[in-house]
Amino acid sequence: MSSLRLLAAIPFPFKPLRLFHGAQPLTVRPGHTAALHFPGFLLWCKVIVIAAGWLAASGEVIRMDSALPTTQSKSSETGASRRETVTITDNRTGKSYELPITHDTIRAMDLRQIKVHPEDFGLISYDPAYNNTASCISRITYIDGDKGILRYRGYSIEELAEKSTYLETAYLLLRGELPTAAQLKDWQYNVTHHTFIHESIKKFLDGFHYDAHPMGMVISTIAALSTFYNDAKDIFNEESRRKQTYRLVGKMPTIAAFAYRHTLGMPYVYPDNDLSYPGNFLNMLFRTSETRYRPNPTLERALDILFILHADHEQNCSTNTVRGVGSSHVDPYSATAAAIAALYGPLHGGANEEVVRMLHEIGSVQKVPEFIKRVKAGETKLMGFGHRVYKNYDPRARIIKRVAYEVFDLMGKNPLLEIALECERIALEDEYFVKRKLYPNVDFYTGLIYQSMGFPTTMFPVLFAIPRMSGWIAQWEELLLDAEQKIARPRQIYLGYDTRSYAPIEQRL
Ligand code: ACO
Repeated sequence: MSSLRLLAAIPFPFKPLRLFHGAQPLTVRPGHTAALHFPGFLLWCKVIVIAAGWLAASGEVIRMDSALPTTQSKSSETGASRRETVTITDNRTGKSYELPITHDTIRAMDLRQIKVHPEDFGLISYDPAYNNTASCISRITYIDGDKGILRYRGYSIEELAEKSTYLETAYLLLRGELPTAAQLKDWQYNVTHHTFIHESIKKFLDGFHYDAHPMGMVISTIAALSTFYNDAKDIFNEESRRKQTYRLVGKMPTIAAFAYRHTLGMPYVYPDNDLSYPGNFLNMLFRTSETRYRPNPTLERALDILFILHADHEQNCSTNTVRGVGSSHVDPYSATAAAIAALYGPLHGGANEEVVRMLHEIGSVQKVPEFIKRVKAGETKLMGFGHRVYKNYDPRARIIKRVAYEVFDLMGKNPLLEIALECERIALEDEYFVKRKLYPNVDFYTGLIYQSMGFPTTMFPVLFAIPRMSGWIAQWEELLLDAEQKIARPRQIYLGYDTRSYAPIEQRL
């Protein structure tokens, strides 16, 4: 590594920083180089160089002893002789501070010792949108954005997509290990036996307008579940958490399907416990007059794979939200409803809906170059392209492209596919996209698959939210059990007015 990199580790989400929705704080990646340079680090380097001579004379170095937990520490790989610290010199005072580095990370709280006067607050770091700030230590999902790697609990997404099922993967995310046959049977039984919803929920679903967006209905309904299950407030009780997990994972497809049926004015279809998780979801969505719905196995498996791919994605916007809201110790229904709301946005889980709208707007393959020109001029975005973390390719997008062709073979080719392929072809060659490392993300092809499967565009973000529920709960539980975490409370840099006197209204101009 040619230059030292820093990551501001903070003991709970948002703590010393401004809170920005749309933010994606990074998880500490054991043994991996921190992805982005700490804001102001270059300034620190300059400070160190300028002060070097002076330092030799003064020689005062204040050592901190607040390293992160050292499991899987990088120092063990790199030899004992290297000092895993960074020295920062404050040119205002000439003092130097030696901060511990663990996992290529310094603790943001270590900066607070750096002050001119003893009564000063001390230095804080500024990182809008969490470009270079880890908000937690996590053991759930690992991403190497440069190499295009995604792993759940150590298992590659490619292997899980090929060999696992969504429910098995959800178990892995939640419990940390793949289940034994008996554990899987028990887990499937419990999820399946929590798919029904209280009849009163149907009543307030009926209250939504006929053209209500299903994502809005799902957010509200999940939030409302907290009023049905008072035991959910007992968040430090493992049994209670387990029960709410069955309910949330089990009821998500039911609520999503009911929201969809409501928009069509069709009667709700109750869960069929003999079907698989995705098969039952298709049943509740599409069953009409048949006595027994039998899902098409290709579509059932395609949906299951899509669910696996969407199950977790470390500290993205919605996961950051579930952790932030959960840090106030609210019940999991309220916390996950907030996460669904975060996912709804067009820059996050709402992007799949926007991709299809964009492809319709482009209209034909011939018009793609003209559209790309507009993107490059900054007039619009190429939706489904770009990612905060993936700067090479999104491994999920590759798998999805393959699944797309399997669905098209069965359902017929989506007419928008040619336009999508042309956008991808031009963008992958064009300097604008290459320079900015913009590649198709998970949402670029999912919309086309969902459309071919018969879903209206408004259901696309809902299809994302259903499987992400398991990831959100895993992250929420990890937060609750992490002794270092506290209520999420960022700092700010106040640049508003200093004190002013109140003027009576008649004196105001
Ligand atoms: N089309 C055109 N230009 C883009 C795009 C895009 N889709 N994405 C990023 N850029 C440009 C930006 O304008 C910026 O250019 P500049 O350096 O000249 O100012 C540069 O690439 C870097 O982009 P940022 O906005 O800094 O990247 P950031 O990491 O903040 O944003 C995001 C990531 C939100 C995903 C962005 O790429 C985007 O808006 N993509 C389109 C929406 C989308 O597909 N979202 C789904 C993401 S996956 C998910 O959440 C499930």
